[in-house]
Amino acid sequence: MQKTVRIFALPEELAAECAKEIARLINRSAEKKKIFTIALSGGSTPELLFTKLGEEYSKSVQWESVHVFWGDERCVPPDDSESNFGMTLSRFLSKIEIPAENIHRIKGEDDPEGEALRYSDEISRFTEEKDGLPAFSMVILGMGEDGHTASIFPGHSELLISDKICEVAVHPVSGQKRITITGRVINNADSVYFLVTGKKKQDVLDKILNDKPAAKSYPAYFIEPVDGDLIWYLDRDAAGLL
Ligand code: 6PG
Repeated sequence: MQKTVRIFALPEELAAECAKEIARLINRSAEKKKIFTIALSGGSTPELLFTKLGEEYSKSVQWESVHVFWGDERCVPPDDSESNFGMTLSRFLSKIEIPAENIHRIKGEDDPEGEALRYSDEISRFTEEKDGLPAFSMVILGMGEDGHTASIFPGHSELLISDKICEVAVHPVSGQKRITITGRVINNADSVYFLVTGKKKQDVLDKILNDKPAAKSYPAYFIEPVDGDLIWYLDRDAAGLL
């Protein structure tokens, strides 16, 4: 695994550089006539990235070669303000020409257990397989202040080692049900990009990136692609203790 930490003065600069790199990798893949499969994160951090992709790369990227998935979704309808799909559609997917069948939404409105099974099957059908697990071209992740990633929360290390592709999780504060891809699927990706900004995350980042003992309580610490690239895209605030 190749780990890289990239630090930017501002979130806007981070988003611009990340968008440029994603566009480059998609087009490189398309030139080889390969499908690029990407699992997106939710939350607020990637909103700038999605806006940048939608506004500046709608014409210069071969989006027809991309299949879009989500690393996790809240168990709410797509038009709910909490929906990761809804946020991505408004900022990004509605601005690019991508075939509807290439957008693989987690149906947050359906029964969580059944949807976790259905989505696992959909991921299997549309991604490459490596070592018996789906292998995304890229997984975009955020990190919570508690060190969670996707919807793998502290105290649920079973989701890091599960042999399932997707599992049902529960937000520890709100009790909201989530559907998440599991840690082994994330670590099977060709590349994993963590996007982390803001001072509130600097303490957890310090422990994770400086491999301190406390890091072991944070699920994000265990994201290490088996033979892929891991790139941490940080702004200066989040990287304040590094
Ligand atoms: C979600 C995300 C989650 C998110 C972190 C960080 O559905 O909320 O997938 O893992 O990335 O909670 O969220 P912020 O970017 O809002 O800080």
